[in-house]
Amino acid sequence: MAAFDTVIRHGTIATASETYKADVGIRDGRIVAIGEALTDATVIVDAAGLLVLPGGIDSHVHISQPSGEGIVMADDFESATRAAAFGGNTFVMPYCLQQKGQPIREALKEYHALADRNCYVDHSFHLIVADPTDAVLGQELPALIADGYSSLKVFMTYADLALSDLQILNVLSVARESGALVQVHAENYDAIRFLVDRLERDGNVGPYFHAKSRPIPVEREATHRAISLAELVDVSLVVVHVSNRESMEEIRRAQMRGLTIYGETCPQYLVLTEEDLKDLGMQGAKYVCSPPPRDFASQLACWEGLQQGVFTLFSSDHCPFRYDDPAGKLTPRARTSFRWIPNGIPGVETRLPILFSEGVSKGRITLNQFVALTSSNHAKTYGLKGKGAIAVGYDADIALWDPKRKATLTQANLHHGADYTPYEGIEITGWPVATMLRGNFVVRDGQLVGTKLGGHYVNRAPR
Ligand code: URP
Ligand code: ZN
Ligand code: ZN
Repeated sequence: MAAFDTVIRHGTIATASETYKADVGIRDGRIVAIGEALTDATVIVDAAGLLVLPGGIDSHVHISQPSGEGIVMADDFESATRAAAFGGNTFVMPYCLQQKGQPIREALKEYHALADRNCYVDHSFHLIVADPTDAVLGQELPALIADGYSSLKVFMTYADLALSDLQILNVLSVARESGALVQVHAENYDAIRFLVDRLERDGNVGPYFHAKSRPIPVEREATHRAISLAELVDVSLVVVHVSNRESMEEIRRAQMRGLTIYGETCPQYLVLTEEDLKDLGMQGAKYVCSPPPRDFASQLACWEGLQQGVFTLFSSDHCPFRYDDPAGKLTPRARTSFRWIPNGIPGVETRLPILFSEGVSKGRITLNQFVALTSSNHAKTYGLKGKGAIAVGYDADIALWDPKRKATLTQANLHHGADYTPYEGIEITGWPVATMLRGNFVVRDGQLVGTKLGGHYVNRAPR
């Protein structure tokens, strides 16, 4: 019997801290050796000229999430995880949304049923707490956290989702007691409602005014407030999808004061601006997400946050809706006001190429920062054991990258369920040419070779 099932030969390994040439030996789905001239294998993969990176972990995606009456998300677990694999990812963390009045366990049962035997890559769920009743806070959440659902998201905006400060404090307190990490969507709901009403009153109803209804102070104020609430409870917090300097600096200030506040940003805040929402017709709806893309100065601030370690997580916030579809961006009501355009854009497949190309290839971040920001830090932050590194004992979740390969992002070449990409036409240098999950190829040379039985649900211990 050969020593290894598979050996990846002649590649250049990059981790969050080092880059070096070595072969990788894989047995029973795990990395069991890293060294020179490993040859005793059933399968030898020649990775000459390629980078051997841990598979991407996208810890912020929305899949099959209920999104309002008549609205349907463009991806189910099959299409989202297929797109994820083509984009060099081996793990996604979608949200399980509790609807008002619903026990979270019931929502989880539904999500597990949707995901089970339907995923090309591994997955684990964050819980969106929309209705923190006494029963949810006192019994359900502590039990679920103990069962391995150790990350929660709370919203400070959106009808049916926004929690009061008191409710957020209560959730933070349960998280502290039970060992969960809370993410916050930081935008001030009342300020947005005030601005939406005023814009509509003045007849400003096109997609562009979505950005005008959620200006930077709306996000900055909520970021500051969320951090203050976490400080009161003495608990860690992740501020997700940060879009601008003022919010980034709130997080940096908190970190410098010794608080454990994590920051996340996303591709839309690096390469899009609110100008993309400007269209006399409805095309701007393709870029409607919250917080909205800002301006060039905000893009620079987000790069600074990534470069200086204020942001340790780079996620897609994949939240796809079809554009040309009454169940997507063009709902009948969306034509009457931006207020009704479903919020969210696709991005699970394009996250890694965009950061590699704009970051590594253009010299803004190192290859090791890329690995940390897109894989290792997600595993560490959310407690994914044996994931996020090329190291002995870790799962052989690997993406092979051609750092010189050039491509143009275009809808025709993507694999998600949406009918457009907001990143159409972006020129990329550096491409994931193969994705391997626990030692088995899922995508190789542009072909899907894995099965939707391959991705597993992964449990996480409380913190
Ligand atoms: O517009 C966005 N970001 N939609 C996804 C939901 C969320 O807030 O993350
Ligand atoms: Zn959010
Ligand atoms: Zn999101």
